[in-house]
Amino acid sequence: MRLRYVPGQYQYLRNHEKAITEPEKTGYKLNRAFNNKNPIHVELGCGKGRFLRETALKNQDINYFGFEKNIKVAYRCAKCEYENDPPNYFIVYSNGDILSDVFEPESIERIYLNFSDPWPKPSHYKRRLTYKKFLDVYKVVLTDSGEIHMKTDNNDLFEYSVEQFKEDNWEFLMVTRDLHGSQYAEDNVMTEYEERFVSEGKKINKLIVRKNG
Ligand SMILES: C[S@@+](CC[C@H](N)C(=O)[O-])C[C@H]1O[C@@H](n2cnc3c(N)ncnc32)[C@H](O)[C@@H]1O
Repeated sequence: MRLRYVPGQYQYLRNHEKAITEPEKTGYKLNRAFNNKNPIHVELGCGKGRFLRETALKNQDINYFGFEKNIKVAYRCAKCEYENDPPNYFIVYSNGDILSDVFEPESIERIYLNFSDPWPKPSHYKRRLTYKKFLDVYKVVLTDSGEIHMKTDNNDLFEYSVEQFKEDNWEFLMVTRDLHGSQYAEDNVMTEYEERFVSEGKKINKLIVRKNG
């Protein structure tokens, strides 16, 4: 996403009722953001937020947090206007690597990784959201039966991630290398990137893994 810098975008996010900015700097725990004890689902790299909002709208008894580390994207996400904007989500302008600083241990039921940046060079693998360092953070914040749902068009990132989860003893609940040609297509909520890739005829990979214990 090549986006223009817009003056005042940080202030806009700070004042936005659906946005939380840099919670790691204040020690604030996001578990307190909603006045209920509903399960928590997190999307890392929510982009412009279509998946976040549509999924929240479909599941109003779940609390959603969409993390976006790029301020220009987070700003666009907050700016998007939705007709049926649901009450049960926040956009978090922050890097997803701070999950264990801003959530209580074992308090997240599900993490979504939708079309994460592929970082194709081996020297950049440590930035991939399925690198071992990230899996260790996910294990701290996920509940005992907590899950990761990952979708990507990038076959290299997908096969790498399958191996990472296997080596780290996650339990596989589903794997498909053609989501839209599979039985799982029916319940699928598309993201912005996914819509583009599908329209170009690309196959979408998806996996669901569960933390083991
Ligand atoms: C390729 S885009 C996909 C956006 C959206 N999920 C979709 O499928 O349409 C990846 C997004 O993840 C964000 N991102 C990458 N790494 C992140 C991290 N560690 N924490 C938060 N956001 C991240 C990027 O800024 C970018 O906006």
